[in-house]
Amino acid sequence: MRDLTMNTFGHFDDSGREYVITNPATPWPWINYMGTEDFFSLISNTAGGYCFCKDAKFRRILRYRYNGVPMDAGGRYYYIKDGDTVWNPGWKPCKTELDAYECRHGMGYTRVTGEKDGLKADVLFFVPIGHRCEVHRVRLTNTGNVRKSFQLYSFVEWCLWNASTDMENFQRNLSTGQVEIDGNVLYHKTEYRERRDHYAFFGVNRKFDGFDTDRETFIGLYNGFEAPQQVFAGTSGNSVAHGWSPIASHRFDLTLEPGASEELIFVLGYVENAPEEKFVAPGVINKAKAQVMMRAFATGAQVDAAFAALKAYWDDLLGRFIVASDVPELDRTVNVWNQYQCMITFFFSRSASYFESGIGRGMGFRDSNQDLAGIVHLIPDRARQRIIDIASTQFPDGGCYHQYQPLTKRGNNDIGGGFNDDPLWLIFGTVAYIRETGDFGILDEPVPFDNKPGTEVSLLEHLKISFAHVTDNLGPHGLPLIGRADWNDCLNLNCFSDNPDESFQTTENKTEGSKAESLMIAGLFVAEGRDFAELLERIDADKAYVDKVRADVAAMEEAVKKYGWDGEWFLRAYDYYGRKIGSDECEEGKVFIESQGWCTMARIGAEEGLCDKALDSCVNYLECEHGMVLNTPAYTHYIKDYGEISSYPEGYKENAGIFCHNNPWVIIGEAMAGRAEDAWRHYKKITPAFTKDQALRKVEPYVFCQMVAGKDAEKPGEGKNSWLTGTAAWTWKAVSEALLGIKPQYDGLLVEPCIPIGTYRIRRRFRDAEYDLTIRQTGKGGKAFIPYKPGKQVLDLTL
Ligand code: GLC
Ligand code: GLC
Repeated sequence: MRDLTMNTFGHFDDSGREYVITNPATPWPWINYMGTEDFFSLISNTAGGYCFCKDAKFRRILRYRYNGVPMDAGGRYYYIKDGDTVWNPGWKPCKTELDAYECRHGMGYTRVTGEKDGLKADVLFFVPIGHRCEVHRVRLTNTGNVRKSFQLYSFVEWCLWNASTDMENFQRNLSTGQVEIDGNVLYHKTEYRERRDHYAFFGVNRKFDGFDTDRETFIGLYNGFEAPQQVFAGTSGNSVAHGWSPIASHRFDLTLEPGASEELIFVLGYVENAPEEKFVAPGVINKAKAQVMMRAFATGAQVDAAFAALKAYWDDLLGRFIVASDVPELDRTVNVWNQYQCMITFFFSRSASYFESGIGRGMGFRDSNQDLAGIVHLIPDRARQRIIDIASTQFPDGGCYHQYQPLTKRGNNDIGGGFNDDPLWLIFGTVAYIRETGDFGILDEPVPFDNKPGTEVSLLEHLKISFAHVTDNLGPHGLPLIGRADWNDCLNLNCFSDNPDESFQTTENKTEGSKAESLMIAGLFVAEGRDFAELLERIDADKAYVDKVRADVAAMEEAVKKYGWDGEWFLRAYDYYGRKIGSDECEEGKVFIESQGWCTMARIGAEEGLCDKALDSCVNYLECEHGMVLNTPAYTHYIKDYGEISSYPEGYKENAGIFCHNNPWVIIGEAMAGRAEDAWRHYKKITPAFTKDQALRKVEPYVFCQMVAGKDAEKPGEGKNSWLTGTAAWTWKAVSEALLGIKPQYDGLLVEPCIPIGTYRIRRRFRDAEYDLTIRQTGKGGKAFIPYKPGKQVLDLTL
């Protein structure tokens, strides 16, 4: 089972929209997410991970140690003690060899099944819609032919709410922990006596035979999760935690006849109470809401119904865009995993994954705007709210906070603003939303500045100042000043840091008189400026203003052609001193991907052949076996004038890694240039369903990662930073719009495919319309416009 030479650890089950992991010793924890509203969980294929409500930093429910050894220790563990053998259905933490193991990651749920010595444990984990909890349905079956008496233990460890101070302020933490035990439920109420109005609980639908809430009693001071002393002794300490480390564990003494099954339902929940309703007696917490939740999952039938509702939720969402082609990897990516990942990145932004600790970053201004492109067709109402939330963190001059905290929705002062691409993404997100929904009304929504009541102006005004923020901040070549950084957080041209204790992102040691300009923002400005002008025309905006927008866009195009072209490709930037970056003149970092992507999407200099040349350069210089690298040649040493980009070893992250996020920019550029073969090849290279070597890829083969090690790296093809990445929304946009050619417009769908796969069928819901399209490609690159009309339409298109 733990054959380290294996390179297949699982497979897709398309019919169930599941990924099935058959070997628990995956090359890295392969995780899934649960939750659809504000209670969320991360769960690995061995049931590791944690959950939180609303905010992964401030409302962390389970403790999780990112730097632990072994990694991914801690989660929701079920232990079975059967004679002298102790095992877990998910293999970890005991790692007792199992007779059978399977983990199915599905849409918002994970099901782990283990079997040992004639006993099968099937644990279904999910977060039900409408409740702030995880439900764990534990089904035990005697698969042998002798009666079995054994014990089942549950186990979770509580985080003391603030995930950050939980791992640093021990002088306080080790004294604050408090619990209550009532009926079948173990409550965690640390800090509830003072300012918190929330507690957590772990309950079960039947009477238990023993329990523990103190970690030391349950595990033993010198043991790890793999050897809890109570489990090995077959006992419980019935401990009541006072300080130290509170946990929750139930014990059950069970007997099963051959063929018989037992089902236990555990609920791991979170409750908020109004201040005046916190207590029912001095020191006794008000448990009413927890009891309601416990009663909601008291029977198998209730769990089945809640699970069916979750399935129905995803069936509905994933019924909105379905492709049927001859390429199964394409179909499963489009129909299931890419859309699913778009939802997850929308919910989490870049906050909590197995590469993001949940305490570092909140919601990114640019990130969350880009994420919208992946979900506007799925959850338009939530997209609308998100746009308003994001815009509310803008400043009156069009600049904005780079990040905001989901709990408070306030801009993050530690990071501040000054990233000069940020404002334009608000236009990008809003346009994507209106094209999908036709909801022009959002433009009239009053939106404050920096969340200050009384400062509201319309969303449209916010878009105008976003646009103006670029034209108000032009450099010596008429190109956009870069500020702290543009999309590439690591191209820090005003930072000049030689102090390892300062942040590359937030430090500007020199700004005054900077000539640092960005060709990436220039391309973004032209593309989004055109979209903005089209939107303005559509709402009959003041003609003089529209003309000005168009003129600014035209001027930017001229500036790019004049100062942004290097002969074979678009330059990347000018540095503080006005020297070129991403030019053949440079020793390293001659070609960069971002400006090729944005300038070709903006079709700058297309008639003069610049786009085709730039796209050829992507193929000639950036493309490698696993995708296109961000820049080449990689920087081999630290360059103070450029900042963090040159801090990364060659082939990793922003220094010549395959930064998957920007590959789709080139893919879309290729498709706009009608270069279907190139577009398709680039797409297949970064799409995980096409990867063959799972051991090399290391991270989950069902989701995109932010970065795959590039050609200069030690191990090209090794993936990192899976799940939370703009790659999800951008590959979605690339495959659904540019390749499969379904482009939402204000008045209908434009069908303009560019993918060398012959005939395929698309079922697409669009507002109140449902289109069933058979698309027959003739290779001539034709297109068709389908005006929006509510109801069902079946069309056969030969293009
Ligand atoms: C990360 C950030 C994103 C940035 C990118 C490139 O993905 O979340 O904001 O654009 O890195 O540096
Ligand atoms: C680092 C990463 C980059 C990320 C940034 C966020 O610079 O390399 O990808 O966007 O941190 O602050």
